[in-house]
Amino acid sequence: MIGFQREGASLVCDGVPLDRIAAAEGTPLYVYSAATIAARYRAIDEAFAGCPHRIHYALKANSTLAILRLLRSLGSSADANSIGEIDVAMRAGFTPAQIVFTGVGKTPAELARAIDLGVRTVNVESEGEIERIEALSRERGTRTRIAIRVNPDVDARTHPHISTGLKTNKFGIPIGDVPALSARTRGRDLVEIVGLHAHIGSQITDVAPLVNAARALVDLARALSAAGATIEHLDIGGGLGVSYDGAPVPGAADYAAAVLPILRESGVSIVLEPGRHVIAPAGALVTRVVDVKEAGAESADRAPRFFAVMDAGMTELIRPMLYHAFHRIEPVVRTNAPLVSTDIVGPLCESSDTLGRDRIVPKPEPGELYAVLDTGAYGSVMASNYNRRLLPAEVLVEDGAWRVIRRRQTLDDVLALEV
Ligand SMILES: Cc1ncc(COP(=O)(O)O)c(C=O)c1O
Repeated sequence: MIGFQREGASLVCDGVPLDRIAAAEGTPLYVYSAATIAARYRAIDEAFAGCPHRIHYALKANSTLAILRLLRSLGSSADANSIGEIDVAMRAGFTPAQIVFTGVGKTPAELARAIDLGVRTVNVESEGEIERIEALSRERGTRTRIAIRVNPDVDARTHPHISTGLKTNKFGIPIGDVPALSARTRGRDLVEIVGLHAHIGSQITDVAPLVNAARALVDLARALSAAGATIEHLDIGGGLGVSYDGAPVPGAADYAAAVLPILRESGVSIVLEPGRHVIAPAGALVTRVVDVKEAGAESADRAPRFFAVMDAGMTELIRPMLYHAFHRIEPVVRTNAPLVSTDIVGPLCESSDTLGRDRIVPKPEPGELYAVLDTGAYGSVMASNYNRRLLPAEVLVEDGAWRVIRRRQTLDDVLALEV
């Protein structure tokens, strides 16, 4: 059994007890399962095997070098959202030809560097951006391959903060404007539209919006091709969700079964940009109870409730505070203490600094370890130094052993930037 499982009273990662890892490496600590990353990557690859495709793993979900190297070794390409992510991808061994560059606000400096490197495609967000790319390409005497990020006006039915495919969202070019834009761009020698791109949101747990976006891309590609454009690929973005609460959600095979019959009509290759679906269930944040306090009772007849104050909070994992995201939170070693309702809270001076509310757990005691599950995506990458807290260490469990893939930050690391 791979991933995070209970063996007796203990939570293990790929068979290695989390309490053993935490004793050696300290907390808060991100722990990742290499076997889970590999299995989830391969599941997508196999699900889309019936169609020429490339998987460009979205670095924004988690871009620790060792994880990128693992994904590259499995055959992945990369989706970068900033020049920092492009450079990190290259340090992990990806070539520019394996990188697509996405992002709603690419600066001229970022575009210039991406063009100089020769990334596979730049996914463009506006006609203004195409003009900026043309000007930079002219200065360099080069031709840049672009894909149009289309805004298909499809509701992803996810949290509004991570919904990106509605016409009211800031992303992409309205789908109705693309044929005229493509006609204006055709025949220009500095940019070449080689693809169409849509990414309608993240944590999508209903394939219907993804099907609608695929349909919109295929119909648009057909219209552009009829008008003389040469579309080489359709980039269907990322977005496929995961189950944070254990309820069933569509997997890679369901997604592929729903969109492939439509995508195949286009006759072109497919690009996927999955992030969360690959990496979220492969990570857990391990955190230690610092203090336990009884919560003030709203009424005298209510059972006592507790706060477990942890050594991790919004600085290590901001998803619960930013999106009201739910994560399962479990004791690393289950005790026989009576079950109590507990708010699992962080140590920061914010009432929103709550990892989970009203969790029924064995009455917690200071020193005990808890694991916040499914935190491989948008966890460590969104961590901050607020309250002068230090970024947690990260370890990768592989073949029954673990290794530190990012050491814990020190105060000297932080202060090195200050003069
Ligand atoms: C353009 C683009 N591609 C891919 C992704 C990855 O999305 P996810 O992690 O939901 O698969 C994102 C994330 O929002 C994105 O903005």
